[in-house]
Amino acid sequence: MTMEKQTDNAPGQRAGRRAYFMILAFAALAIALFAWHPVDLYLWIKALHIIAVISWMAGMLYMPRLFVYHTDAEPGSRQSETFKVMEKRLLRYIMTPAMILTWIFGLYLAWSVYDFHGGWLHAKIGLVVLLSAVHGLFSRAVRNFARDENKHSARYWRMMNEAPTLLMIAIVILVVVKPFA
Ligand code: HEM
Repeated sequence: MTMEKQTDNAPGQRAGRRAYFMILAFAALAIALFAWHPVDLYLWIKALHIIAVISWMAGMLYMPRLFVYHTDAEPGSRQSETFKVMEKRLLRYIMTPAMILTWIFGLYLAWSVYDFHGGWLHAKIGLVVLLSAVHGLFSRAVRNFARDENKHSARYWRMMNEAPTLLMIAIVILVVVKPFA
């Protein structure tokens, strides 16, 4: 009998089902909150926003590390194939859904209390657009790596590791300190 590996298709499909179940549960919670409409709805949505942000950032900070190691792995090697599975699942099941939820809850917060006013908010949204562009760049890289067509050096990916870090620091300072109105 051969042992099932986590990189096989079946565990991948199960991970996918679990991820979609979690996303559905999250969406159901958000809908229930809107229907129930507690007085502190804003704080509940803010909590969901932060949970989504943490999940998105976990992937944004880790993905370029995977690219650094993947660049060093021989195309066609077992190691390289394992990285492909890790990258695809991280992007599809964690990062993209978390990014969408971050945007939905963030836009609700910006609209419901701030009516989209405030220099700090405009600056924050601008930086989140940049962060989303970096997400798009990572997503294209996952497709390129999957075809063994990575176009960049390990040094490039090590540098790209800093982009989400710097953007995250600026975004959190803008929203917490609100240094300008
Ligand atoms: C997708 C676009 C986003 C929009 C429109 C948005 C908007 C907002 C708004 C209006 C608030 C409420 C601020 C308050 O109550 O004082 C908030 C809270 C927060 N956001 Fe975002 N956000 C977005 C993405 C992000 C991202 C990418 C991060 C982190 C990398 C982030 C981190 C936070 C944190 C930490 C809070 C809690 C701040 C506090 O309670 O003091 N947000 N967001």
